[in-house]
Amino acid sequence: MSHIVVIDEDGNEHQLDAPEGWRVMEIIRDHGLAMKGLCDGAMACATCCVELDPHWADKVPGRTDDEEAMLDTIAEVSPNSRLSCQLLFSDALAGMRVSLRNDEAEDEDISPAASRAA
Ligand code: FES
Repeated sequence: MSHIVVIDEDGNEHQLDAPEGWRVMEIIRDHGLAMKGLCDGAMACATCCVELDPHWADKVPGRTDDEEAMLDTIAEVSPNSRLSCQLLFSDALAGMRVSLRNDEAEDEDISPAASRAA
C-alpha cells in the first residue's frame, strides 16, 4: 500500500498507509493523529487544515473558491495551507508530505456565552 508522511506538531514524522480514494483528512484521523475534521469534509470547519510540502504543491489540484473562502476564516494561512478533506489520495501522491498545524489558539471558545464572560 502507498503511504503519506505526516509531520506532527512536535516535528515527529509518521508514515501512514494511504488507501487510494481516501481524503487525506480521513487518512490522518484514522491513524489517530491530531486531526479533527469536524465537518467530515463538508468544507464547513477548516479544522482539517494542513501545510502541504511545497514540493507537492503542483501535484495536487489547486484550491477552489470555496476552499479559499474557508481558509480565509482561520489565522496564519500560507500559500501551501490546504484543507486536507479536499485532497483525495491517489497512488500518484505516494510519499506526499504534509504538516499538522498547531491550532490551539483556534480552539478557544468563541461562543457568545464565552464572549460575555470575558
Ligand atoms: S473537515 Fe471540515 S473543512 Fe475539512
